[in-house]
Amino acid sequence: MPAIRPGAHGAVITGWGSAVPDTVVTNADLEKTIDTNDEWITSRTGIKERRVGGTTVGLSVESGRQALERSGVDPAAIDGLILATTTPDRVVPASSPVVQDQLGLSCGAFDVNAACSGFVYALVTAHGLIAMGAEKLLVIGTDTLARITDWTDRGTAPLFADGSGAVVLEATEGPGQLLGWDLDADGSAEKFLYCDVGGLIMMDGKEVFRRAVRIMVDSATKSMQHAGVTAEEISHVVPHQANIRIISAACDRLGIPLEKASLTIHRTGNTSSGSIPLALADSLDNSKIAPGDLVLLVGFGAGMTAASAILRWGGVS
Ligand code: COA
Repeated sequence: MPAIRPGAHGAVITGWGSAVPDTVVTNADLEKTIDTNDEWITSRTGIKERRVGGTTVGLSVESGRQALERSGVDPAAIDGLILATTTPDRVVPASSPVVQDQLGLSCGAFDVNAACSGFVYALVTAHGLIAMGAEKLLVIGTDTLARITDWTDRGTAPLFADGSGAVVLEATEGPGQLLGWDLDADGSAEKFLYCDVGGLIMMDGKEVFRRAVRIMVDSATKSMQHAGVTAEEISHVVPHQANIRIISAACDRLGIPLEKASLTIHRTGNTSSGSIPLALADSLDNSKIAPGDLVLLVGFGAGMTAASAILRWGGVS
């Protein structure tokens, strides 16, 4: 993938939001229904609890509304809505037009399905629309994986959950925040993580783990090369929240201290397309990202897909 073309219109994130359902399922709750225990789940995944019970439209409207309010952008001024999700509420229509209506937007709306890499795919796509003349876009990542999780399977039930995050992206004079990006896919790995229509998630956990670290590191390395930055210069990493050991191993191989990573996994579990924008919103809400910081977003997921982006944070505090 190319570096950013000189002369392209830039964009900055001017608002963000997040949403999770009210129902909390702790590891202790899972101990009552499957043969597992808190110590195993915590040490193997980093997850202590997760939220379940939302709908993709409902969570998207909540996080999207927060992002719009924080940005101060009038919903009527939004030029397009991109919703990253692998769990739309219906097969047809996509969930994004319903979100568009409930948020009072009057613009094009479409879903992107790149599984857990989806939000970064959507964010990069949004930058492309701004390069072509759009002014203000709403980008949301939401998944409601609880609905496609087999709650009797101890290999997958502890991992997956529901959540959403959103950003408002606005055109700016000059190059904007995005310095480099990478979108990858390898469909030959489909069999390691999939869900048939009407079915439940099937996963070869060991194989996904093994590939996840490699493809996250490969994608992040490409984005850093495109941006012309080194791992030492990265101030903050927002990784897909799938497993603390995957995040830790990827950071280790990239030479980025784990202390620089957004970590929400202990209380959110894996919310797929929701995971990166949720973690980004959490870091911004807690003032962990400051103007001028170099931020690496990096995800991987079913497909298998991988995606990353380097942002120079600025403009909003
Ligand atoms: N509770 C307790 N024990 C469990 C368990 C559970 N929920 N699930 C499996 N075990 C047991 C196994 O039976 C096995 O026991 P044995 O050694 O007596 O045979 C042992 O724990 C190890 O199982 P294994 O499947 O090898 O565990 P693992 O170390 O590979 O961890 C995952 C399993 C799922 C946590 C790990 O493979 C993983 O996180 N993979 C990536 C998944 C992912 O991120 N998917 C989403 C991508 S977007």
